Amino acid sequence: MKINKFNYSPILYNKISFGTTGRYYKSENGDEFGTNSWLFRDDIEWKTLARYEKNHFCNKNRVNIIQFASSDGSEAYTTIISLLENFPQKNAEKFFPIKAYDIDEEIVNAARSGYINTCLLDRINLQVNSYDYSKYFTDTKEILNIKGDVKLQNQKTLKASNILKNRVHFERADMYNILANLNDNSDTVLMCRNVLGYFENDRVEKFVKIVSNKLKQGSLFIIGEHDTTNSFIDRYLKENKFMYVFKHVYQKL
Ligand SMILES: C[S@@+](CC[C@H](N)C(=O)[O-])C[C@H]1O[C@@H](n2cnc3c(N)ncnc32)[C@H](O)[C@@H]1O
Repeated sequence: MKINKFNYSPILYNKISFGTTGRYYKSENGDEFGTNSWLFRDDIEWKTLARYEKNHFCNKNRVNIIQFASSDGSEAYTTIISLLENFPQKNAEKFFPIKAYDIDEEIVNAARSGYINTCLLDRINLQVNSYDYSKYFTDTKEILNIKGDVKLQNQKTLKASNILKNRVHFERADMYNILANLNDNSDTVLMCRNVLGYFENDRVEKFVKIVSNKLKQGSLFIIGEHDTTNSFIDRYLKENKFMYVFKHVYQKL
């Protein structure tokens, strides 16, 4: 496990990232992870991604979006909203349901509840990125407690609508197991964002090699800022038959 100030200082990490949930836990093999995520995390151009996916997969009847390290559901909800807002709805349906996996039971239960803790930045992002965000979330008086949350700002719990909940399945799983059983048909969008950056480089490189063997030509692999900042993942991807498409998005050659 790589130790740096980001791994060990949730407060600092939260301040920099404006994350909404800042829970740290140790996995069975001793790795320590943050579960931070938030809506429209700005290390991806979400509108560009939705439009790219639309054109890139125009000949596919079905596209398989898989999210590893899905955390509290922010990333899945962001993906769904981006696709729905940038597509005629009937054309977007081929991307759903998203299959979202995280190894942390508590964060998976939180995601499954349909409630999400938001800070002001989440709610601004929602307004900026959707025509009418009340379609997707409603205010609630319920409080979502996730043990170990680091609360920096006033959290507001929102309730996801069925438009969102029906388009994603959250499941507790280790991404290595899901990857081992993955059968790609050049129709996969594998999002594995802001988790590999917690690994040592040799583990990142091995993971990239497995992904490269599993994904077929044309499928996409998407990472995050934490991964590129803390590892040589960009180099490993290019060395293993991935082409850089735009920021944090790679295509299998
Ligand atoms: C910082 S969050 C990333 C959230 C989101 N992908 C994003 O970019 O905003 C990292 C998540 O990785 C999860 N995680 C760590 N190891 C995992 C594994 N082997 N399989 C699945 N999820 C894992 C943690 O539980 C945590 O929720």
